[in-house]
Amino acid sequence: MTQDFIETGMAAELAPGTMKRVDAGGRRILLANVAGRLCAVDDTCTHEEASLSTGVLKGELVKCPLHGSRFNVCTGEALEEPAEDNLRTYAVRLEGGRVLIDLHEAGTP
Ligand code: FES
Repeated sequence: MTQDFIETGMAAELAPGTMKRVDAGGRRILLANVAGRLCAVDDTCTHEEASLSTGVLKGELVKCPLHGSRFNVCTGEALEEPAEDNLRTYAVRLEGGRVLIDLHEAGTP
């Protein structure tokens, strides 16, 4: 299994219950802190390409700012229409407080 971890900042910079967009390796990724667990999915909504990082995060669910679809930020699952396709997920690893995201072994939607 090939891995390609990219450093995307310090874990301490992302408080529980918050999220941010990370541009890494030509991808836009949403990194969310869900009660201390870091989860990463594609930032672009699968409906009409809104940036989910400008939406609202509640628990594991992010609400798209454009038409209100909800996705699970840890599993990528699309839970509410109009979006029907899941988000791609990424493995996240912590190393000395640094956040590393695996861009190579991304989970398929
Ligand atoms: S762009 Fe996200 S629900 Fe339409």
